[in-house]
Amino acid sequence: MYKVTLKARNQQFEYPCAPGQTPLRAARNQFIPFPTGCQQGGCGMCKVKVLDGEYNHDLTRSHEYLSDEELNNRYALACCMTPKSDLNIITIEDYEKQQSELAEAVKN
Ligand code: FES
Repeated sequence: MYKVTLKARNQQFEYPCAPGQTPLRAARNQFIPFPTGCQQGGCGMCKVKVLDGEYNHDLTRSHEYLSDEELNNRYALACCMTPKSDLNIITIEDYEKQQSELAEAVKN
C-alpha cells in the first residue's frame, strides 16, 4: 500500500492506495470527496498536479483535458494513473487557486 496525500476543496486527506489502484478509485472507496466524472480519462474532472511521488499514467486519455505538455509537467488524470510510490497530489482547482494566491502575494 502507498500513502496518498490529497489536497481537495481546501482540505487535506491522507489515504492508502494499492499499487494497481487509481488514487481516484481509492479515494472514492473511502468516501473522500475527490472531484470525479467519467472515470475513463475523458472529462478532466479528476485532473491533478502531482507535487511529489512516482506514478504510471495510462496514455489512453482525452488530449483535450490533458495535453502531452501537461503530462510531461506532472499534471495527471487521477482516474488514469497508478502509484509507484507515496503520492502528494492536489486537484487542479485547488492548485490554480493556490497559484493565483501566490501571484497575488508576490504583487503586494
Ligand atoms: S473522471 Fe473523467 S477524466 Fe478522470
